[in-house]
Amino acid sequence: MAQNKLLTASGILLGIFVILVLIQFIRIDKTNPPVDAAKDFATIANPPQDVQLILRESCYDCHANTTVYPWYSDVAPVSWWLKNHITDGRRHLNFSEWGSYTAKKADHKLEESIEMVEKGEMPLTSYTLLHPQAKLTAAEKEKLLSWLKNYRKS
Ligand code: HEC
Repeated sequence: MAQNKLLTASGILLGIFVILVLIQFIRIDKTNPPVDAAKDFATIANPPQDVQLILRESCYDCHANTTVYPWYSDVAPVSWWLKNHITDGRRHLNFSEWGSYTAKKADHKLEESIEMVEKGEMPLTSYTLLHPQAKLTAAEKEKLLSWLKNYRKS
């Protein structure tokens, strides 16, 4: 009896292991779409260096075409989940495509960005856990928000 249970347990473990190995062959596409500096938010809105740095460090991995993929982006199924966030993030807001937004859309995205940062919903917690430097300090949050609000008014 006990031996049967042991056999079943090792069979299940082996099965999980085989699946984990096999899914590694399903790779994600890590090529970044081309970047046209003229269309980038940084060029168009020209925020001060410190604000630019905050955006690059806390938002650009998911909301621009300049994503830096970490080592675990090679490990399925984490890679799939990560790729999903990037695709979804870019679809909602892409700072690299800012120049293609209509004035109305750009204003709406600024409004949403302010709201998301105020509520603490962005950057995503799952991201800041692994990228501690992306977490906004109270001072960074304040700086980013006041700049975004002023820029929106102009
Ligand atoms: C780990 C990836 C990631 C990071 C980093 C990140 N976002 Fe997002 N963001 C997403 C995803 C995914 C969505 C779409 C789904 C959602 O709303 O949760 C999104 C949605 C948004 C939206 C659109 C909301 C809407 O309703 O259309 C705004 C605005 C936004 N993020 C701003 C920011 C700002 C500003 C930062 C940096 C301070 C940031 N995000 C950092 C992944 C990210």
